[in-house]
Amino acid sequence: MVEIETIDNSVVVGIGKGGSCKTTLATQLSGIWSSEGKRILLADLDMQASATKVVGLDPSQHGDGRHLMDSILYGDELKTVRARDNLDICVAGRHTKALSNHLVTAETAASDFALPFQKAIASGDYDRIVFDLPPSGSSRLADMAMQSGKYLLVPTSSGVDNIEGLRVLAGELEELRSNIVLLGVVLMKIGAGAPRKRAETREQVAEILAGVADPFETIIRDAGAAYDDSRRASLFLHEYAEWATTVSVSNQIQSKIRIPQNLASLAQEFYELADEVDDRIATADKILAGES
Ligand SMILES: Nc1ncnc2c1ncn2[C@@H]1O[C@H](COP(=O)(O)OP(=O)(O)OP(=O)(O)O)[C@@H](O)[C@H]1O
Ligand SMILES: [Mg+2]
Repeated sequence: MVEIETIDNSVVVGIGKGGSCKTTLATQLSGIWSSEGKRILLADLDMQASATKVVGLDPSQHGDGRHLMDSILYGDELKTVRARDNLDICVAGRHTKALSNHLVTAETAASDFALPFQKAIASGDYDRIVFDLPPSGSSRLADMAMQSGKYLLVPTSSGVDNIEGLRVLAGELEELRSNIVLLGVVLMKIGAGAPRKRAETREQVAEILAGVADPFETIIRDAGAAYDDSRRASLFLHEYAEWATTVSVSNQIQSKIRIPQNLASLAQEFYELADEVDDRIATADKILAGES
């Protein structure tokens, strides 16, 4: 088998069933990194186009995933859409499904998938590419991202099914013959007021990952209402939290706006996580550079 060249500076957010917070993680980290000055390309590989929608774009207004299809199948330059300062997105949509289905039978190799992204990094336009994957095992496009991505971030919440799901991770990577480096597992949606559950979940994850990677220190709290409010406002959590600081209490009462109490803490956790991921990438980059 031909060794696929990895996509430099790429972070794949994947592995996990529907609703495990892959899109939340991929989008919020992309939002924070770009706000801090890193030039990010967020690549939405899910036909549900959730990441596209989180950044506030309507997939049908931006090609519905055609641009990625045209660049993988016909070699066109990858067309991206500006979502924020320093943040471009490769939009998904109904063509993403057609592309993924086509790739199952076509001769197209993972290297053809990787090429437009390798070119995007080589052009110097981006510091990092973040891939948002669909649920595990559901798409050829996701497999190709796993085979050519450099780093992998895996979200999980507590609960037997979620934790047990992590046990298949190593097997899945082996089956795909992927050399992707697991940066760590992010514990998501675990109550801030449940220290025992937090500790237990962390221990379970650490045990499953023993020798492969540690779970991240930062745990993202369960705060569905705060998250949903930010979505309704079409803002990233950190943007919404910043806006919230400008709304006075009297204004909140007058305009009947209710800002969730845990919003600021939730946003802060994503900032801390973004720093932690940055640190692990820097360490892994050094180790990999030393090996080559
Ligand atoms: N901190 C949080 N606390 C509670 N719920 C949250 C939090 N963050 C996100 N959610 C909710 O978790 C759900 C799953 O989010 P997300 O879309 O990120 O999952 P996913 O893994 O990308 O799903 P899919 O496999 O369908 O792509 C969403 O309904 C979202 O509202
Ligand atoms: Mg998703």
